[in-house]
Amino acid sequence: MEFQAQWIQAERELGDVCPVFRRDFALRKPVSSAKLYLTALGVYEARMNGTRVSDYVLAPGWTAYEKRLQYQEYEITSLLQKENELTVTVGRGWMRSPMGWGGKEGRTALPCGIWGEVRIFYEDGTKEIVPTDASWLFGESRVRFSEIYDGESYDAAFEGNEWNRVRIFSWNNEILIPQEGEEIREQERIAARSVQVTPKGETVVDFGQEVTGYVEFTVEAKGQETIRICHGEVLDKDGNFYNENYRDAKAEIRYICKKGRQTWHPFLTFFGFRYIKVEGFPEPVRPEQFQAIAVYSDIRRTGFLSSSSPKLNQLFSNIFWGQKGNFLDVPTDCPQRDERLGWTGDAQVFVKTASYNYDVERFFRKWLRDLAADQGEDGAVPVVVPDYLKTIPPSAAWGDAAVICPWQIYLTYGNDDVLREQFPSMKGWVDYIGSVTTTPYLWTGGVHFGDWLALDAPPGECEGASRKDFIASAFYANSVLLVCRAGRVIGEDVREYEKLHEQIVTAFRETYPVYETQTEHVLAVQFGLSPNPQETADALADLIQREGGQLKTGFVGTPYILHVLSDFGHSDMAWELLLREEYPSWLYAVRKGATTIWEHWDGIREDGSFWDKMMNSYNHYAYGAVADWVYEKAAGIQALEEAPGFAKVRIAPIPDSRLSYLEASMETRHGKIRSKWTYTGDGVRYEIETAVPAELVIDGKKELVGSGRYTLWG
Ligand code: BGC
Repeated sequence: MEFQAQWIQAERELGDVCPVFRRDFALRKPVSSAKLYLTALGVYEARMNGTRVSDYVLAPGWTAYEKRLQYQEYEITSLLQKENELTVTVGRGWMRSPMGWGGKEGRTALPCGIWGEVRIFYEDGTKEIVPTDASWLFGESRVRFSEIYDGESYDAAFEGNEWNRVRIFSWNNEILIPQEGEEIREQERIAARSVQVTPKGETVVDFGQEVTGYVEFTVEAKGQETIRICHGEVLDKDGNFYNENYRDAKAEIRYICKKGRQTWHPFLTFFGFRYIKVEGFPEPVRPEQFQAIAVYSDIRRTGFLSSSSPKLNQLFSNIFWGQKGNFLDVPTDCPQRDERLGWTGDAQVFVKTASYNYDVERFFRKWLRDLAADQGEDGAVPVVVPDYLKTIPPSAAWGDAAVICPWQIYLTYGNDDVLREQFPSMKGWVDYIGSVTTTPYLWTGGVHFGDWLALDAPPGECEGASRKDFIASAFYANSVLLVCRAGRVIGEDVREYEKLHEQIVTAFRETYPVYETQTEHVLAVQFGLSPNPQETADALADLIQREGGQLKTGFVGTPYILHVLSDFGHSDMAWELLLREEYPSWLYAVRKGATTIWEHWDGIREDGSFWDKMMNSYNHYAYGAVADWVYEKAAGIQALEEAPGFAKVRIAPIPDSRLSYLEASMETRHGKIRSKWTYTGDGVRYEIETAVPAELVIDGKKELVGSGRYTLWG
């Protein structure tokens, strides 16, 4: 599309204050339709005659900005009048917010500019374009400060009436792309549950649920009072407000009141929080004055899980909330501290669960394009995408997101376009490994995160005991295998990679005849590396038993551990681990009041103390990957590689009498699939509903059925 727009910015430095750009224009004749195209360096809010042009918030979203910047297209016909005023307020957003510990360089010095145009189509067939150009004006907005990590300041009493001419500047227009991701929206509102005064005397509002987004409040004021709101995820063990784990992110709102009754929420930033501490409120703080607004990408819920166990149901809820809280345009590690980055490792760990819970095809395809864009010439995949950190070298199990994510998106949705598009990136990653390893057919050397946060790490440390070369080589094998599979789907010649895979397996078996940790056992089986998977799975079960029935796995081993156990006859132990309530376990956090998934198994210890504030998020979705075991094994709904996208399905539930029922359902591209088992006095009743032909495996007996509803007994 051809545009006349030019990049414009304020012609004087406004410091922290967010500029508002303005253009007035009149309609000359009756209009048949009108559109606005717009983007910014930062995040923007656009209003036509005072009304937001769309419910898309935090536009233009987050991409690998140096290479790809989305512009949005809005239908604005109904917002136009005879005389029009278009305003665009711009905050620093992801692009220009400094992050204390990394990637700070020059971000705040980037220009705060916008680019776009209004296109008006008149009924008589003529057209008029109002592009951003030197005729636009700028002024100071009421947003006196806005950054992703530090929050927002707003002066409702500020009456800026000085308007000045903008300045034109140049930017690389080749990076402009139409909106690719899902739109980011205000999706849910959560009423405050209670207001409490803490032992320290702080006024704290509890929303009862950790969310990502912002708080809206209503207040009656005389004018000029300053309200300060701080965000936190948990209270400390004495019941006081706590957010030291946000590290350098101030995550704060300052609001100067105008006179009268007013309702406001920030709109150019976001926070991860369950609690807020309120200071300077001009009237007694009441819960009805506060709502939390959950902001996330417009992904459609497709998966549902429920059981007879309230604690397990809370875990499911935490997993869904963990996804909502971290699917704000980019799959992030966490939404609260000075990080909130697209960690590739976390994304690959969670992608399967994510794709069952919600329709994330479009969400991931956009992110994968950013991954490919940020991939080095040599195929190196950054540890975070968009690449904010630049200096951290690629790590095994993180960079493998380049291969695992497209493959999973293909399996879940059945559309091979993602493979076609990502194939060079997928191959690039495995070729990169081949070029940097110090041992052919393995990945040795390099700097890796290892089995991040595993419990076999020395106390207080993050990198688990599993050997890093072992993990790197195992993921290398898996990624090469997936490149072969993907290549075969799209008709690529992958003979070279098939051979490479065989060589890796041989070298791996020679180099690693013995598995030392839970995660090493898990990977050896999961990635087909053990020459005797049954024996290795049995050894894993023994090891877990010897280690007190506790899992010791971190980011790398946890997503697969229950699969490996139940695939090799240890379903009982898989269930045991899932339903365990003592530390360490999924339900331990539930017992401690979690409403999202914690980064650490022991984010809050038995005695109420916290893991070190330097690395302790209460909304990190990674361990929520256990939901894929619940869908696939506990409820038994399995995609078949030969029929991707659930064109056919295998349903092989694994009931466990510690529950009286479990139910899972998924809206697939081919319709709904639901599986429920119930313990009745007479045995186990299976209710299956399938929109596609299914292979039912009940009590070891196989049966092929067409679409329909079935009740069976076991
Ligand atoms: C993030 C993780 C990430 C890790 C890399 C952390 O700071 O929060 O989730 O994967 O760094 O090791």
